[in-house]
Amino acid sequence: MKEKVEELKKEIEAYIVETAEELEQYRMKFISRKSVVGDLFNELKTADQEVKREMGRTLNELKNIATNRFKSFVDDLETKEGSEKLANVPDLTLPPVADQLGAQHPILATKARIIEIFERIGFNLSEGPEVEDDWHNFSALNFPENHPAREMQDTFFIERNPDIALRTHTSSVQVRVMENQKPPIRTLSPGRVYRNEAISARAHCVFHQVEGLYIDENVSFKDLKQTLYHFVKELFGKDTKIRFRPSYFPFTEPSVEVDISCNICKGKGCNICKYTGWVEIGGAGMVDPNVLTSSNIDPEKYSGFAFGMGIERITMLLYQINDLRLFTENDVRFLKQFKNIK
Ligand code: PHE
Repeated sequence: MKEKVEELKKEIEAYIVETAEELEQYRMKFISRKSVVGDLFNELKTADQEVKREMGRTLNELKNIATNRFKSFVDDLETKEGSEKLANVPDLTLPPVADQLGAQHPILATKARIIEIFERIGFNLSEGPEVEDDWHNFSALNFPENHPAREMQDTFFIERNPDIALRTHTSSVQVRVMENQKPPIRTLSPGRVYRNEAISARAHCVFHQVEGLYIDENVSFKDLKQTLYHFVKELFGKDTKIRFRPSYFPFTEPSVEVDISCNICKGKGCNICKYTGWVEIGGAGMVDPNVLTSSNIDPEKYSGFAFGMGIERITMLLYQINDLRLFTENDVRFLKQFKNIK
């Protein structure tokens, strides 16, 4: 029996407990009534008096060792669990981490600047649906029946006959305004437009436009020129020059394309203006009488001008951005650069 006790002492000393389960196993083996220690006590019951006295002391000692070890296992487990719990409690004394501030998208910032300039000279804002019928996108704007812009290569059609399409310009919104309001009309229609074009550094199938419409008695081409002249000076700086080149749009007559002196080289010639000193910003013209008639406005009494430009193009000129795809890639390294613009 003595040898057995010595063996058990060694085993207890070497025993390792790391989980609650292992602790229970230890308790069953060395502490409970049915444990090996318990068995030894049972054996002692039938021994004679002399042996009982001597071995009783030895067994009690073994029992104490087993119990003390058990207590130290319990202590260890409790501190381990405790520190794990503590590790999950946030340290409330730490200074706060500042939130990252987002930046306004450059397209939205430019749109806001354009709107502000025109609002100050009396234009209001108008918006309309991005999914349009043929009448508002084409027919009311005097597009001939077989005009190429109606065809598949330019337009994303959703349904055919009658045609429903993603609007190809925001002129459709101006038709809606003319149908619902009496002149004088001075309105600005910003919005997203769609064209079936291959995506490249200079073109995209989704982009933004701002179009303007002014209808009143005695509106003439000089009003158009002066309005656009005022706009480009406000946006690009007071030294900016403007020029008009004859062009064609179904809904305006006469029609022009609008150039401004290159704001990067100041007209001297650079790769942005392809060494011409001029960059194009949009189209414009006097509203065709057919368009007024389509919207029940008397062309004998009223006249008007319209203009349209791409917001991406203007933003690229303002900030010297050379690839239009950057606007839709969501690269924060690009977007962050516009943090401080207003
Ligand atoms: N709607 C034309 C376009 O999308 C732009 C434009 C508007 C031209 C008004 C002239 C007058 O290209």
